[in-house]
Amino acid sequence: MGRKKREAPPSKGEGKPAEEVPKVPIFIMGKRYEVPASLTIQKAFEYAGYQLIRGCGCRGGICGACGTVYRFPDSQKIEVGLACQTVVQPNMYLTMIPFFPANRTIYDLEKIRPDLESLMKLYPDVMRCVQCNTCTKACPMDIEVMDYMAAAMRGDLAKVAELSFDCVMCGLCASRCPAEIAQYHIAILARRLYGKYILPKSEHTDAMVKRIEEGTYESKVEGLMKTDEDQLKKLYNEREIEPERAGEDWIPKDTQYL
Ligand code: SF4
Ligand code: SF4
Ligand code: FES
Repeated sequence: MGRKKREAPPSKGEGKPAEEVPKVPIFIMGKRYEVPASLTIQKAFEYAGYQLIRGCGCRGGICGACGTVYRFPDSQKIEVGLACQTVVQPNMYLTMIPFFPANRTIYDLEKIRPDLESLMKLYPDVMRCVQCNTCTKACPMDIEVMDYMAAAMRGDLAKVAELSFDCVMCGLCASRCPAEIAQYHIAILARRLYGKYILPKSEHTDAMVKRIEEGTYESKVEGLMKTDEDQLKKLYNEREIEPERAGEDWIPKDTQYL
C-alpha cells in the first residue's frame, strides 16, 4: 500500500507561458472569466483574482482541502474533483467546497473495541448504505468507496483500512451520498482501530517514541531552531537520504539521531 500523488492530466498549452495559451471561458460562482486552458481549477481561481486561503493546501493532490463542484451548461450532471488536480474545461460552472459538513463522531480510542459493534454505535448510519456506488464515482483518488462501506457493514476493519488507505479526506464522497453517510470518517475510525488493536506492534516505533518522550532530541531541535535560514537550507540539502533500494539493515552514517 502506498499513498499516491495524483498529477493533473496534460492539457492544451501545458508548459507554455500563460499569455501564449489559448483561453477558455469558465464561470466562478456565476461570474464569467477567460482563463488559460492549461490551468488547473485552483490556478484558474487565482488567475481570475481570487485569493485562496481556505480550500488550498498541498497543491499536489494529497491534503484533500480543495474539493470542487462543477457542471456544464448542457448537462444535468454535477461533477466533483480536486481543484489542484483538475484542469479547466470550457464553460465549467464551478465553486469550491473547502469544507463539507459531514457528521463526525467524537470518541476515545482507548475505550472502544475493534469490532462492528463499536462501528455501529459510533456511526449507525453505516447501515443506511444502499450500495449505489455514487461515492466511488465521486472519489478523486479512485478509491472503491462503496466496497469499503460494504466491508464496514460486515465489520471487516482490515478490509476498510486497506481499501481506504489513499483517502485524502476531501469529503466529496459524502457530498454525493444519497444516504448522507460520512464514509471517510467511518474509514478513518476503522484505520485507527486497525492500527491500534489489530496490526502487530511495531517495536522500533515504540522504542523511538520512548526516546522522544525521554527528551533525547530536545537539545538538537533547540539547536536547529537557533540556526539561521541559510545554514538550515545547507543542512537540509546535504542531509543523508536512505537510498530507494536500501536493504532492511541500512543505517545512516551519522547515527546521532537514532
Ligand atoms: S453513495 Fe452512500 S449509499 Fe451509495 S454506495 Fe456510497 S455510501 Fe452507500
Ligand atoms: S474516500 Fe471520500 S473523502 Fe476519501 S478521497 Fe475519496 S472522495 Fe475523498
Ligand atoms: S490542495 Fe491539497 S489536494 Fe488539492
